[in-house]
Amino acid sequence: MTTFDANSTTGNVIEGISLAGKVAVVTGASAGLGIETARVLAGAGARVLLVARDGKKLEPVLQSLRQQLPDAQLDSALMDLADLDSIRTAAADIVGRFECIHLLVNNAGVMACPLARTAQGFELQFGTNHLGHFLFTSLLAPALVAGAARSGQDSRVIALSSAGHRFGEMNFDDPNYEQRDYDKWVAYGQSKTANALFAVGLDARLKGRGVRAFAVHPGVIMTELSRHMVPEDFELLKSAAPPGEEMTFKSVEQGAATSVWAATSPQLAGRGGLYLEDCHIAEPAAVGKSGGIADYARDPVLADRLWALSEALVGQAF
Ligand SMILES: NC(=O)c1ccc[n+]([C@@H]2O[C@H](COP(=O)([O-])OP(=O)(O)OC[C@H]3O[C@@H](n4cnc5c(N)ncnc54)[C@H](OP(=O)(O)O)[C@@H]3O)[C@@H](O)[C@H]2O)c1
Repeated sequence: MTTFDANSTTGNVIEGISLAGKVAVVTGASAGLGIETARVLAGAGARVLLVARDGKKLEPVLQSLRQQLPDAQLDSALMDLADLDSIRTAAADIVGRFECIHLLVNNAGVMACPLARTAQGFELQFGTNHLGHFLFTSLLAPALVAGAARSGQDSRVIALSSAGHRFGEMNFDDPNYEQRDYDKWVAYGQSKTANALFAVGLDARLKGRGVRAFAVHPGVIMTELSRHMVPEDFELLKSAAPPGEEMTFKSVEQGAATSVWAATSPQLAGRGGLYLEDCHIAEPAAVGKSGGIADYARDPVLADRLWALSEALVGQAF
């Protein structure tokens, strides 16, 4: 079986894979990795629903994809992950249009923004990156289960996490920064830890019904994600690299490869609840070495605790 690595591209990992008859949903499809993920899934024959919050930004993306892939089956939906009402409206529209969904890539995200709150008052990074996707996935779950039942193949949910999960674990006492001082990197870390734990919790709950979940670190890619970063942040990240290691950048095609591999690779059939990086299953994180998954981001007990907290905060039993 072909093995892939940090240099592998979306083109490499999708080679020989047909997604004909599959429906894929990609959030954050108006920029960066989301556009590339949608492009590659559509190119492999999936019907792809591009989800974004800004219709004016999504329209040229759709036009460009239609030019590049004249036969692609593309649909779109608008949803603001920082507003639970918007998520409920979008999800109702989507499940009304698609009885079966086979792949869900929860890709949208914000990083290191100044302290801000979602419509319901959650800290913006935790609220957008985790809680919004938690609610969205719970509302799409019946369609994911139906997709697996009809196709006879597991549906997959991909949660975009990050190596940045190592900046912060879940703080269950104050997840929304109501009592502690805000640190934008610790908050990003918490949200990305939540994304990783979500894959553990989701896989445990839905694998018996044919839905498997994976968390992904895509690598470091120059996208609009850095929109809130100031020059000192780049220095901070560079200096955080372990001695002897330098921060290396990936192209967008390399960055989206792990998401596409997670969503489509036969090498992951029958598996789930895993954290992936560089198109392979990550090792446990080690002190003095970058990469890997921290224990607190893959602990099933913490995943259950986050699950209960998330249900309570979004007001929706999964
Ligand atoms: N790039 C990296 O180096 C890197 C590293 C590790 C992890 N990641 C993760 O990879 C994912 C994709 O990142 P990217 O690099 O492609 O970033 P990006 O270029 O900034 O794209 C992020 C996407 O998320 C959308 N989004 C943000 N807030 C939203 C909201 N409230 N509702 C709906 N959509 C929202 C953005 O919409 P707008 O276009 O309207 O802003 C955009 O489509 C993120 O989850 C990120 O944490 C990226």
